[in-house]
Amino acid sequence: MSAKGIKLAVSGKGGVGKTTVAALLIRHMAKQGMRVLAIDADPVASLGGALAMPDHEKIEPIANMKDLIFERTGAKPGTMGGFFKMNPRVDDIPEKLAAVQGNIHLMVMGTVDHGGSGCVCPESILLKNLVQHLLLYNDDALVLDMEAGVEHLGRATARAVNLMLVVVEPGARSIQAAKLVRKLAAEIGIDQLAVVANKVRGPEDEQAIAGALEGFEILGYLPYDPKFVEADLAGKLVYEDEDKMPEHILTVMHSVFSRASSKSSADS
Ligand SMILES: Nc1ncnc2c1ncn2[C@@H]1O[C@H](COP(=O)(O)OP(=O)(O)OP(=O)(O)O)[C@@H](O)[C@H]1O
Ligand SMILES: [Mg+2]
Repeated sequence: MSAKGIKLAVSGKGGVGKTTVAALLIRHMAKQGMRVLAIDADPVASLGGALAMPDHEKIEPIANMKDLIFERTGAKPGTMGGFFKMNPRVDDIPEKLAAVQGNIHLMVMGTVDHGGSGCVCPESILLKNLVQHLLLYNDDALVLDMEAGVEHLGRATARAVNLMLVVVEPGARSIQAAKLVRKLAAEIGIDQLAVVANKVRGPEDEQAIAGALEGFEILGYLPYDPKFVEADLAGKLVYEDEDKMPEHILTVMHSVFSRASSKSSADS
């Protein structure tokens, strides 16, 4: 079974642990020797922090790179209408602009899509082309850390994936969000969707989530673990030494990895 071509997005309600789970998955896949392109698709970037990438706060979102946007499209960011290249070159962007640490390449997308319909402006054309290019990006894995909520499902970014992973926590609102994500994902043609439950305090939480999400594929349950909060506060990796990662966390990561790679090998 080839693992090439894993393209997965992590979505869910605000604060459920999308970035935490994305970072765990990215590290897990990198540890297996895969090259992972990690994309922070949240305008409030935080994946670099969760991965403890050096100088992550200095990574500039691609949407803010005025010179690059001008160079590639021939128009200044923020200009609407007028003439600019609708098919700007993007193939070298992942190589050039990703921060690199070991097998992990991190890009921060930023956002230009104010108020829904998406502007026809040079920066949105550049991002759209970039996402389309990433669809074909011949790397081992691409993991998108999405912003909270569901608005982004209307954007091009989400379409690049072949597995939508939804993180839920014990609570009605995150369950509701998962149901909405499934509906909207199906509408844009993503039928591969699975759930990871996070911040689970015990068997009762597990049962409540499983009961509320009947018909969903639940890949695993991650316990509520104060170490995640401590790591977040300290700006450090949780379980810095991968070999000390608790078995139950590794098991969940492996389930997601297998699920994502079985789908992608079926695709090709
Ligand atoms: N299993 C867990 N146990 C305890 N705390 C956790 C767990 N998972 C995540 N957290 C904590 O919950 C907070 C939110 O996590 P995280 O930033 O990953 O969520 P998010 O869904 O990406 O949030 P946002 O919607 O703001 O992007 C962080 O402080 C994180 O450390
Ligand atoms: Mg996040």
